[in-house]
Amino acid sequence: MTKQFHDHSLDTATLDQLFNEARTYNDWLDKDVSEAQIHQIYDLLKMAPTSANMQPGRFVWVRSEDEKHTLAEFASDGNKDKIKAAPATVIIGYDIDFHEQLPWLFPHADAKSWFEGDEAGRKEGAFRNSALQGAYLIMAARSIGLDCGPMSGVDLDKVTEHFFADQPRVKADWICSVGYGDPESIFERSPRPDFGTFNTIV
Ligand SMILES: Cc1cc2nc3c(=O)[nH]c(=O)nc-3n(C[C@H](O)[C@H](O)[C@H](O)COP(=O)(O)O)c2cc1C
Repeated sequence: MTKQFHDHSLDTATLDQLFNEARTYNDWLDKDVSEAQIHQIYDLLKMAPTSANMQPGRFVWVRSEDEKHTLAEFASDGNKDKIKAAPATVIIGYDIDFHEQLPWLFPHADAKSWFEGDEAGRKEGAFRNSALQGAYLIMAARSIGLDCGPMSGVDLDKVTEHFFADQPRVKADWICSVGYGDPESIFERSPRPDFGTFNTIV
């Protein structure tokens, strides 16, 4: 029997919100992001596919004034004010020992054993898959009407030491401010390549 095909394409306005008109913001309107919204972002991003459902991303959401100032101290000069102005900035880290969680995260198989004794492989997997989770984080935030400002200009060793002090196998990788972006804080859109520039179909 032929299976029915359904077209599930999103409408143009939704695609514009998520992609075509979504921008990276450098300053923020004076409007808070609630804990409920932060939970909502996580509850969407956790649906992202990760290898063997490893879910290696670890997220610290910086909302208090004290911790914002600490994070800003670890940032490059150009990023300090952005972090202080944002209602929330999330630190995206990855757990090198994510495999300890696999017995419950991937119950269909003994996936933990695949990674035991292979720290280099775990690092590679954790790095790749936490970055994917971070990309989904941006899309999740945009989906609920928030804007993002991703940044890598921070001293990652200091960020790791301070914000993941209680998780010694986690390393910070990048950070992302979340809030309601000030439209005056964006640059002109940088060029985006045509398909032929970086794509090949074989
Ligand atoms: C992983 C990552 C790191 C970035 N680091 C910084 C940064 O440290 N400081 C900064 O001002 N912008 C940073 N950016 C912002 C980029 O320059 C920006 O997202 C890009 O130019 C696209 O801008 P658009 O989304 O407005 O088109 C970073 C973006 C990403 C994804």
